[in-house]
Amino acid sequence: MQKQLTTTCNQLIDKLRKEKILKKEEYLCLIKNKRDCSEYLYKNAREVCDSIYGKDIYIRGLIEFTNYCKNDCIYCGIRKSNKNADRYRLTVEQILDCANQGYNLGFRTFVLQGGEDGFYSDEILEEIVRKIKLKYPDCAITLSIGERSFESYKRLKKAGADRYLLRHETANKKHYEKIHPNTMSYDNRIRCLYDLKELEYQVGAGFMVGSPYQTVENLAEELLFLKKLNPNMCGIGPFVSHKDTPFKNEKSGTVEMTLFMLGLIRLTLPNVLLPATTALGTIDPLGREKGIKAGANVLMPNLSPSNVREKYMLYDNKICIGDEAAQCIKCLKTRISTTGYNIVVDRGDYKSI
Ligand code: 5AD
Ligand code: FES
Repeated sequence: MQKQLTTTCNQLIDKLRKEKILKKEEYLCLIKNKRDCSEYLYKNAREVCDSIYGKDIYIRGLIEFTNYCKNDCIYCGIRKSNKNADRYRLTVEQILDCANQGYNLGFRTFVLQGGEDGFYSDEILEEIVRKIKLKYPDCAITLSIGERSFESYKRLKKAGADRYLLRHETANKKHYEKIHPNTMSYDNRIRCLYDLKELEYQVGAGFMVGSPYQTVENLAEELLFLKKLNPNMCGIGPFVSHKDTPFKNEKSGTVEMTLFMLGLIRLTLPNVLLPATTALGTIDPLGREKGIKAGANVLMPNLSPSNVREKYMLYDNKICIGDEAAQCIKCLKTRISTTGYNIVVDRGDYKSI
């Protein structure tokens, strides 16, 4: 019986590798029986990734420049209602300092991430983007600052931003509404992703694995949604509870399900840039290494100044809080070398062929 199930699942994986899409029920079958076919999935996902990106692992320097946020996402540690969050903002000079350190450490992509903080107007953000671009014309800038208007995205693109990360968090509208306050809208979030595509940003979407109320059907829907959106990047990581949120007692996502989804995403969108996230490294000490072995090809270490790191706490027990950027990159290089892959000094652009 078991053997038969494995055969069926492996055939579905072969089909997925060949056709790059499955029906919802077929994805669901794989997700439900992941224990019987995960190794076969990872082997295929790795082969596909290697055929496009080789043994290169791209790094992105994450600069968490503000933890102020006007939103109140129920899962998130920097939600507006969390009165225990110690709020901070980095100055333009501090941000440039982070980029400078990062450049010297070999980073050629900077991700400016923050809560939705009204303090950073289009003007200020344009200034930051322009200054980084002027100093490091060989680097890519990724923005990850939430939902904005088409006009704002347009201005920031014109100022020099190359990419934009905006996780959709869940592809299911009903599920979206269960993990967000009613002041937020699923439709607006999706609108933002399509605006960003229209403006020719390289776009990153993504979702949490194991967030409260998520079902296996929802996970199957994620793959169909991603196929349709066809993003250049996809950030996924386990949901991890945060002690000062209403979801403090909810179970976290699992390593196994996160890895399995990474493998399925790699076969569904072969060229996608896929990070092994910090959240994955948080729930398992070898999470990021395992992520790479399951099909990921990007790492996003932290370049934020050490004194603010513990303040950008989206979830409990986040790793690398006490470490300097230089330490993290050294640690990652050693870790990744054990997987047979190498961190490279490269912008790490999306390869479309
Ligand atoms: N657990 C895991 N990931 C989280 N994020 C926010 N809160 C949590 C949490 N509790 C993720 C969201 C967001 C990204 C910046 O961090 O997916 O898009
Ligand atoms: Fe930060 Fe290992 S990656 S200490």
